[in-house]
Amino acid sequence: MKKANYDDIAADTFDLSRPISEERLKTWLDLISENVNHKEKIEFLDLGCGTGRFSIPIAKRLGYSVTGADNSEEMLVKARKKDEASQVKWDIQDATSLSYPDASFDAVFMSHLLHHVDDPSDIVNECYRVLRPGGTILNRYGSMEDIRDDPEHRFFPGTIEFDETRTPTLKQVEDIFQNAGFKDVSSKVLVEEPYPSPEVRLRGAELKFTSVLTLIDQSEFEKGLENFRKYISDNPGDHWLLEDRMTLTSGKKSD
Ligand SMILES: C[S@@+](CC[C@H](N)C(=O)[O-])C[C@H]1O[C@@H](n2cnc3c(N)ncnc32)[C@H](O)[C@@H]1O
Repeated sequence: MKKANYDDIAADTFDLSRPISEERLKTWLDLISENVNHKEKIEFLDLGCGTGRFSIPIAKRLGYSVTGADNSEEMLVKARKKDEASQVKWDIQDATSLSYPDASFDAVFMSHLLHHVDDPSDIVNECYRVLRPGGTILNRYGSMEDIRDDPEHRFFPGTIEFDETRTPTLKQVEDIFQNAGFKDVSSKVLVEEPYPSPEVRLRGAELKFTSVLTLIDQSEFEKGLENFRKYISDNPGDHWLLEDRMTLTSGKKSD
């Protein structure tokens, strides 16, 4: 599978083009907290943490003891810079082969990670191994059926072919969780409006904010931008330009 390299996708660009409003962040923090078993000290792993968009607020606002792990040094450099109070432990790790001992964490969270590896079950099996009995796995992602018709796919149709080889459907994620041994597997789909305007979304596409845009031909990319700009100018009020559908799939390791 052709892979996106996050050492080449500037970490600054990543944050700029994936805005997360206070309201959306609060929704995700509430969902995380509802799913994690409460105890005095919660050891929490944010796997594929990127620039710490979630790791830092989880440590700061939920008070968990957070480890942020990623295989891109560039993303971790940016994450460390943002973590002014050094509340998170940052580790370079390959999610398919973690160096942590068995039963190290109470919860593992992933956001937009599973599609980056050839076999996502390699990551989910590692999550099972490093979780303590009763521990929680959480996966935040846009499932294939939910991203297929979004602007980044409709205006750049070559992305569909790439994503069909790498992005799982909701059912596939649930099956992978169950096959790894997780119980009580369930999913929740949220319709979000992460972009304050169509122009902000277009700006993100221009910066190749979603990794699949780095995988298509430059000529196709430029044609897609042209169509995207024209569509915005013809349909400035179209709500579809602002929406994303995001899924949270959760599961538990048996006690
Ligand atoms: C789309 S970004 C998501 C970042 C963060 N979770 C967020 O939602 O803001 C995907 C991240 O996964 C990391 N990644 C990709 N493959 C990985 C692997 N095998 N092990 C660890 N991290 C990986 C990338 O470096 C990148 O930071």
